[in-house]
Amino acid sequence: MNLIKTCLAAITMLGATALSPSLSAADGVKVDHLGVNNTLVRISGGSRYLLLPVQESNEDDRIDVLVDGRLDKTIYVKLAKNKVDYFVPLELAPYKGHEVVLNILTTQGRSTVREAKDDACWKNMTLSDTFDTTNREKYRPVYHHTPLYGWMNDPNGMFYKDGVWHLYFQHNPYGSKWQNMSWGHSTSKDLINWTPEPLALEPNGLGTVFSGSCALDTNNTAGYGNDAVVGLYTSAGASQTQSLVWSKDNGRTFEYYDANPVITLESEARDPNMFWDDNAKQWELILAHALDHEMLIFTSPNMKEWTLQSAFGKGIGAQGGVWECPDLFRLPIDGTDEEKWVLICNLNPGGPFGGSATQYFVGDFDGKTFKADTDKEGKIPTKWMDFGKDHYATVSWSDAPDKRRTVIGWMSNWQYAAEVPTMQFRSANTLPRDLSLFKAADGELYLCSAPSPELSALRDKLIVNVRRANIGKKNATYSLPATNDGICEILMDVDARKAQKINFTIANKAGEKVLMTYDIAAHTLSFDRRESGIVDFSQDFPAVTVSPTFEVNGKISLRIFIDKSSVEVFGNNGQFVMTNLVFPENPYTTLSISSADGKAAIENLKIYSIK
Ligand code: FRU
Repeated sequence: MNLIKTCLAAITMLGATALSPSLSAADGVKVDHLGVNNTLVRISGGSRYLLLPVQESNEDDRIDVLVDGRLDKTIYVKLAKNKVDYFVPLELAPYKGHEVVLNILTTQGRSTVREAKDDACWKNMTLSDTFDTTNREKYRPVYHHTPLYGWMNDPNGMFYKDGVWHLYFQHNPYGSKWQNMSWGHSTSKDLINWTPEPLALEPNGLGTVFSGSCALDTNNTAGYGNDAVVGLYTSAGASQTQSLVWSKDNGRTFEYYDANPVITLESEARDPNMFWDDNAKQWELILAHALDHEMLIFTSPNMKEWTLQSAFGKGIGAQGGVWECPDLFRLPIDGTDEEKWVLICNLNPGGPFGGSATQYFVGDFDGKTFKADTDKEGKIPTKWMDFGKDHYATVSWSDAPDKRRTVIGWMSNWQYAAEVPTMQFRSANTLPRDLSLFKAADGELYLCSAPSPELSALRDKLIVNVRRANIGKKNATYSLPATNDGICEILMDVDARKAQKINFTIANKAGEKVLMTYDIAAHTLSFDRRESGIVDFSQDFPAVTVSPTFEVNGKISLRIFIDKSSVEVFGNNGQFVMTNLVFPENPYTTLSISSADGKAAIENLKIYSIK
């Protein structure tokens, strides 16, 4: 009896609580707690944003955005429970003049409504006409592309038109961890300075917006006009299908094709990458058949009806976990009039140093089938585009000028991308690179990823300029720019014919350092970031990566770009590259060079601070 009474009392209390709005919510935000895991938030007034408080360690809560009672969209946000890490903006401007109600399903374990009511998120939701994106992060790169706020992974849909480089990217506009996949968008006239643009693609009934590509439809094959920007991306719902979009305003906004999806398969397939084949007069599409470790090749007259032509990859190269983000293009071979086809195949995990990496195959393509070249032993070799740990999902721009094949990657690794020590945003892109092929001493063709020519414009003051220096056991030490947080470009030619190993150490006074060692006999350059700064956020972060140097005579050239949280090393103008993140507590201040055994020399050492 007593128990029944207590229960009745509790139910009455629950009812009362549910009916009375929380008093502490901000003006224009009315909160009704309906149950332990369900809350309605009614919004009034004409503000541009509702700022949602996030606590990163929480699970995602589901927010159904109802406009005049109809579901407009669903987003997932880690709403703050006991502390607010940061805010994310829900745009209200499109709903002006309409009733907006958020129907929120929280995932936090709750026993009573009273407990749910105490969550920090309810009283911290704020209406505002502005959202402050001023940088708050010590590790935000200065000259690498980053999202203004929120999570970013793969570069997507890149195309060049009318002097503008368009870069879309996998983006979570509601938090700094992977979720709510959408296409963010930035544009640049010089591949260095990026202007943030409005969100380009958002999830719809077919699913969230995974990676894909854009191309200019020069001949109006799809019917959206000459030179229309047409995109293809993966709709990720219960299944992965491919959806077509087109733009009437040069890629600022997109329309969704009403007969989507245009490609459906029975197994996971994603990241469509298409290009116009002028020989065959048709569209070519490469699609990652992720779990099957193969790339599917489709053709189409109009980007809407696609015919499967072939598959490449079964049992070839590094197989890893999943194959993702393909690209296929023709490249010139340096110093010849010849060209070859290159198939880019990002894979994760299974990279040479763990986690994500980009492999590629050199071969021929006849419009239907890609055939990889074999080496002297008749095998198809596994080749890597970058020998660091932080180079993934790299693909190229469509329609780049002057026949350039310019690529950009995601500068992170799925092993720890969500754990790196930033919060306002997560992840940057690599520097852009221009590709060609070169023939190495082993007779094989390899990718050369040279820093894009635009990057030379980054140079500010020349702070070290040494024509020649002999290098012995004792460190020769040079200063990095102090007023500039050590952000710089370092160039040098290394002559190690009389030595066996040369060490290059980039360090700060606290002893945090990156140690690079050129091993002449092994023809390798290693990059050790185990003591580079903060490394303990993931057991996979401390690492030594090793690259072949492709030289034959003990001479290499190095071009090193240091930003707030990355070091990119280009050897022999891109014949080998290492891209690695670093998080020093304080900026690096010195470069020291020594040789443990025998004499070496460096020539034309130049250190430029970067603007
Ligand atoms: C690669 C990837 C793609 C997918 C996207 C989702 O990093 O897994 O295959 O489209 O990320 O964000």
